[in-house]
Amino acid sequence: MVLSKQELKNIETVLVELATKEVGPVLKENAGKMFDSFDDKANQVDLVTAIDKQIEQTILKRLKAEYPDFHFIGEESYTSADREISDAPTFIVDPIDGTTNFIHGYPYSCTSMGLVEKGVPVVGVVYNPHLNQLYHASQGNGAFLNGEPLKPVERPLGLQRSIIALESGSERSSGSSGDDNFDIKQATYRSLLSDQGGYIHGSRSCGSAAMNMCMVASGYLDAYWEGGCWAWDVCAGWCILTETGGKVVGGNANEWKIPVDERCYLAVRGGASESSQDKFIEEFWSHVAGKLKYFWQG
Ligand code: IPD
Repeated sequence: MVLSKQELKNIETVLVELATKEVGPVLKENAGKMFDSFDDKANQVDLVTAIDKQIEQTILKRLKAEYPDFHFIGEESYTSADREISDAPTFIVDPIDGTTNFIHGYPYSCTSMGLVEKGVPVVGVVYNPHLNQLYHASQGNGAFLNGEPLKPVERPLGLQRSIIALESGSERSSGSSGDDNFDIKQATYRSLLSDQGGYIHGSRSCGSAAMNMCMVASGYLDAYWEGGCWAWDVCAGWCILTETGGKVVGGNANEWKIPVDERCYLAVRGGASESSQDKFIEEFWSHVAGKLKYFWQG
């Protein structure tokens, strides 16, 4: 099956309605109210609440009813059977991206719903009800913020003069654990920020991969780099970003083409020529202080 532009637009409309009418109110109503009742997943900083699970069920129920033949991968229900993303249309959903923000009442949590076909993100909807920001896009149909076309401001793109989103994420084992991802990330931050290294203008963190991607799509941020996040964190934002002329490559050097579940990403804004994007990417990679390695779990 290859979905037409019109079919993709229709799916985008369904996801927008689901996000704004069914998910957004629950997300907004419960933000900051779950501080005494969250659970740990992989570790003490990988958090989930009953609201994440409730919202995922709401989304799953609606999408299964509308698109019974499509596959579905959700953050709160995925299992090892979901490791292979086939060519078939597959919804990849994070019911609440920025769960830690949601628990703390920090207004950067959102719902993030994407669709991939042949492994490529072709629809994306990200809705932050706290700030009333609805980002939506589908392949070939453009990207929008609250219904208005989203176009990053055109300005020169260069590493030293950039602001980049960097996230520590929830995998933070350091030193003796045998896994040096966290230490590589810290060394990379140092190399990017230091006056002896990239000396970039600054780093930012939304605490939500989806919101970071949307900030890059808007052109407020020049790039976003993270290792350790998941397909559901980036899928929707990836489609929104590419519809604004942005690019997603691997977070590790020389990985120009990556699958949506790579778990290690560098997203770069549009509003600049492809050659300056590629130059930016290569310069960024020269600061990545080792090879990050992540695997699917479940
Ligand atoms: C997390 C957020 C965070 C990122 C983590 C993600 P969650 O998603 O996107 O910004 O740094 O890697 O896991 O757990 O809030 O859905």
